[in-house]
Amino acid sequence: MRTPMSDPVALITGAAGGLGRAVAAQLAQAGWRLALVGRSSTRLAAAGPVDALRIEADVSTAEGARAAVARCTEAFGVPTALVNCAGGTLIAPLHRTAESAYRACLGANLDTAFFSLAAFVEALRNAQQPGAAVLVSSVVGHIGVANHEAISAAKAAIAGLVRGAAATYAPSRIRVNAVSPGFMVTPATQSMVATDAAREGFARQYPLAGLGTVEDTAQAIAWLLSPAAARITGQVLPVDGGFTAVRPLVR
Ligand SMILES: NC(=O)c1ccc[n+]([C@@H]2O[C@H](COP(=O)([O-])OP(=O)(O)OC[C@H]3O[C@@H](n4cnc5c(N)ncnc54)[C@H](OP(=O)(O)O)[C@@H]3O)[C@@H](O)[C@H]2O)c1
Repeated sequence: MRTPMSDPVALITGAAGGLGRAVAAQLAQAGWRLALVGRSSTRLAAAGPVDALRIEADVSTAEGARAAVARCTEAFGVPTALVNCAGGTLIAPLHRTAESAYRACLGANLDTAFFSLAAFVEALRNAQQPGAAVLVSSVVGHIGVANHEAISAAKAAIAGLVRGAAATYAPSRIRVNAVSPGFMVTPATQSMVATDAAREGFARQYPLAGLGTVEDTAQAIAWLLSPAAARITGQVLPVDGGFTAVRPLVR
């Protein structure tokens, strides 16, 4: 599918991942032109529509994130939407988390959000354009889940980043929100639900039946970027089947 050059431009990081691909599909359908960012052009090649721009960059550094936004601006124009799907999970108790694993977890989940958002708002402000960003938190950033200390710290920090940036950039007409998914089956997590018993075990923890999908979260992201959410900023929207709000009814 070819999209007209007048369509608005969205930059998606972690675009080769499970959630990133679903977001790309959702935003392409909503008429966005896409710049897809990841650390491997081979993995990116299989993601998104044919006419998407693919940018190999590590957005966990200020330099990498700026380079990604600059490449998008040069090819397509300034992106007016950012979705930071870059991330990676780490399941380990605090006392067994090596310093290198902790730093990698914070780098993939928090540094990518911080530096992508910084590069995005800088480009928008220079162009004097409004825009909207969606970051990705997690249920483990809001409620204690055993053996998730490093990722919980990173995902809780996303909420602080969202609120601070929403306040700073509201006068520039830049909205900043996050989604907070529960468990979704993606290449990163599918080994955790390889058996029916494991899948049912995960599902039982959620008040709403079944497991969430990347499409559920991608739809929420597309909505937060759309004019329908024009009055929403500084929010973290749970897409978690009730996991963080209510207790499941145990029968
Ligand atoms: N799956 C779940 O159950 C779940 C639940 C709650 C929240 N989340 C969050 O949702 C987001 C997406 O998760 P997912 O399951 O789709 O994970 P995924 O399949 O592992 O995708 C994450 C992507 O991030 C990219 N990435 C990592 N570090 C990067 C960096 N420094 N620069 C650029 N790209 C980078 C990776 O691609 P390359 O290696 O090719 O760069 C990978 O494709 C993550 O933030 C995750 O924490 C997931």
